[in-house]
Amino acid sequence: MQVKDRTFLITGAASGLGAATAERLAKAGARVVLCDLNEEVTTLAERLGECARACRVDITSAEQMQQAFDMAVALSEEQGLAGVVHCAGVVSVAKLVDREGNPADLEGYARTIHINLVGTFNVMRLAAAAMAKNTPADSGERGVIINTASIAAFDGQVGQCAYSASKAGVVGMSLPAARELSRHAIRVMAIAPGVFETPMMSEIPDEAAQALAAAVPFPKRLGRAEEFAQLAEQIIINPMLNGEVIRLDGGIRMQ
Ligand SMILES: NC(=O)c1ccc[n+]([C@@H]2O[C@H](COP(=O)([O-])OP(=O)(O)OC[C@H]3O[C@@H](n4cnc5c(N)ncnc54)[C@H](O)[C@@H]3O)[C@@H](O)[C@H]2O)c1
Repeated sequence: MQVKDRTFLITGAASGLGAATAERLAKAGARVVLCDLNEEVTTLAERLGECARACRVDITSAEQMQQAFDMAVALSEEQGLAGVVHCAGVVSVAKLVDREGNPADLEGYARTIHINLVGTFNVMRLAAAAMAKNTPADSGERGVIINTASIAAFDGQVGQCAYSASKAGVVGMSLPAARELSRHAIRVMAIAPGVFETPMMSEIPDEAAQALAAAVPFPKRLGRAEEFAQLAEQIIINPMLNGEVIRLDGGIRMQ
């Protein structure tokens, strides 16, 4: 799928991986609709200029996301929405049993699953419905959906039951969604980042961040948001990438 002059919807675009992806696609000549709960999304859209629109939405809301997709289709003029890079998500840490012997909070678990997994399904279903109406591009494609999983889907750590389950769900949806949407010529991919230097990760103490960086075989550092954006662009461009989850992690395997 061509990037230049096509329209992409990016979620989680106020910050971190989503913001870097929005900037990269805009620089490559795309029109971009930036979705996020956070008002910073408006500032970024203004900075990117005429090619960008901001949409302050909750990705778990059917109505709000439908409006965002309608905005993207309108921005695309005749061509229709070319792709979605879905980055919005939350991290959570909770042990099944805490130090005092209390069981984990059930609502906290459900919240993480709702935002990361149900939210991804919400974005994916609306994206597919919008893109299925497109006239195929020269490559024969109607669109591409890129979801964001995590290496925690495979190597979850202590306290990550909710987060790992939510991201494993994102991994699990990739192949059935790609198979189903193949008849519409829509591809579905997921990126499973390792540890990236973003506001989400700034919540962990410096010492822990250094230990994580040291655990990466090569390069011995945290990932940069631009490196995620670079892979997202490659996935958009390369039509053979479909139904797969790509680890982007410098070879780290979490313990
Ligand atoms: N940073 C990492 O190391 C890392 C590693 C693996 C996976 N991930 C995943 O990558 C994605 C992006 O993470 P990031 O590091 O850029 O985090 P981030 O916190 O910098 O950005 C996440 C954005 O999502 C938005 N968001 C959260 N819930 C939302 C909702 N319900 N509706 C709309 N927007 C919402 C936030 O406002 C925020 O701007 C997340 O799904 C995260 O789980 C990140």
